[in-house]
Amino acid sequence: MKKLLLALACCTAAATVSAAGNVTAGKALADKYACATCHGKDYNSPIDPSYPKLAGQHRDYLAHALTAYKRGDGANGRNNAIMTGQVKPLSNQDIQDLAAYFHSLPGTLVNHR
Ligand code: HEC
Repeated sequence: MKKLLLALACCTAAATVSAAGNVTAGKALADKYACATCHGKDYNSPIDPSYPKLAGQHRDYLAHALTAYKRGDGANGRNNAIMTGQVKPLSNQDIQDLAAYFHSLPGTLVNHR
């Protein structure tokens, strides 16, 4: 019984990682494309107050935002001179991985209710 539970835990976790993006791959991509140059060290201290903090934001929101920059002027797109260039080389899997990575970082954003 114990073995069966372990097997289930192993495979459920593995399936979740691939569907939700891979944090390690996301970190490698963020380093490769130097996203921290603007979004700041630890993705909590952007170089300009008008630039967003990425750390701790919801994974699905981050993926949605990056996809919107890819759409540009299209439906549900975002047209931003800076980010349009940044997302050009990213595949859909890259976007999922980056979103998983930023989401995994401790953020300073809070919800006031
Ligand atoms: C040259 C500066 C710069 C670089 C480099 C940069 N960004 Fe951005 N990023 C911005 C700015 C400015 C915005 C806000 C744009 C807007 O108003 O839509 C933004 C917005 C975003 C958003 C939307 C956040 C939100 O809260 O809606 C995400 C996600 C994001 N960037 C991820 C990335 C990733 C991933 C990389 C690296 C591949 C990257 N950025 C590199 C400047 C930059």
